Amino acid sequence: MVWPHSFTDLRDAARRRLPRFLFDYVDGGSFDQVALARNAAAVRAVALRQRVLNDVSEADLSTDLFGHRLDMPLMLAPVGMGGMLRRRGEIQAARAAQANGVPFVMSTVALCSIDEVMNATPAPFWFQLYVAKDRGFVMDLLTRAKGAGCPVLFMTVDLPVPGPRWRDQRSGLSGPPGLTGQWRRWTQILSHPHWALDVGLRGKPHTLGNLVPIMKGNVRLNDFLSWSGRNFDPSVTWKDLEFIRSHWDGPLVLKGIMDPEDARRAADIGADGLVVSNHGGRQLDATTGTAEALPAIAAAVGERLTVLADGGVRNGLDILRMLALGAKGVMIGRPWAFALAAGGEEAVSRMLAQMATELRAGLALTGCGRARDAGPHLLAGPPAWP
Ligand code: FNR
Repeated sequence: MVWPHSFTDLRDAARRRLPRFLFDYVDGGSFDQVALARNAAAVRAVALRQRVLNDVSEADLSTDLFGHRLDMPLMLAPVGMGGMLRRRGEIQAARAAQANGVPFVMSTVALCSIDEVMNATPAPFWFQLYVAKDRGFVMDLLTRAKGAGCPVLFMTVDLPVPGPRWRDQRSGLSGPPGLTGQWRRWTQILSHPHWALDVGLRGKPHTLGNLVPIMKGNVRLNDFLSWSGRNFDPSVTWKDLEFIRSHWDGPLVLKGIMDPEDARRAADIGADGLVVSNHGGRQLDATTGTAEALPAIAAAVGERLTVLADGGVRNGLDILRMLALGAKGVMIGRPWAFALAAGGEEAVSRMLAQMATELRAGLALTGCGRARDAGPHLLAGPPAWP
């Protein structure tokens, strides 16, 4: 591949390489994909002040989050089933993240298990938890994450029910079994010799590593969809957060907060951080863009916990835009997923290096030498949101 690559280039390359249903799974949002589009538009609507004649020869991108030094204020967001995009995909992405000094946040519903990623990567990764109905399973996951040395836990709170994904139904990933034969089609695609070889499935069941114990070793991906339908828990409340808090000593971050009232509650209950996120526009399709929600949340709780944000961040300058709105760190989902699909570990690594270059340029051109000093003083004015 010839670099540099924009997000659009990586998305196009991923589209060429992936079967349609997998590309749609990553690319898509819920319902009519309004929030998905609004996330990216809201980030891009943020204008920054151009400042000149400051000595910016020594730009410093590094920051500290939850007691950990990051080479830049960026994290790879949890992407469920990301391991399907390349052979043992979570391992490739985690290695790329570690090589670039940023955390890889592993999804509960990864293809590789916690142990597998731990054994294949030199540095610790962070872990994202979905609270399933089976609390024994949840405890087991926490124990395994602790055992693997995961220092930071993200609890995703914006998926009490799966957002209707019409696009996935059209392309055959999900939908009522038997209705249009999606299950059969999916299994056929996954069993295709080239595909199975590439994602490392030959000779192995299509497992979702972390679910093996609960599904007694029989975790084919289509079993997973029906398992997740039954086990994602719509009755999770703040009480359950207290339960998780009492069983996790390390930093706990709530992912999927869009409202200052919920943010205050998260702080009251002792969360160490939160991610302003609407799940990349994959849940409630009627939210504002995450960038729009960020300033009020940062104002409400920024002194009490670490405010992070994701949704629509597509390059290094977008990272700076989110920092200017009050985030202390930023997560990316689709950019790394598409890079992984397009070119594996190397492409994810190059994309991260490119984002660092872009962030460095942004810091220099706004006259702000250090990422950790970025904040609302960089804003050119109130963003032109709808
Ligand atoms: C996600 N996201 C997600 N979040 C989470 O907490 N657990 C998960 O398993 C997943 N799975 C997942 C799969 C795919 C294909 C996507 C695109 C997203 C949401 C993700 O962590 C993040 O919040 C968004 O992706 C951020 O938006 P962008 O960067 O994709 O615009």
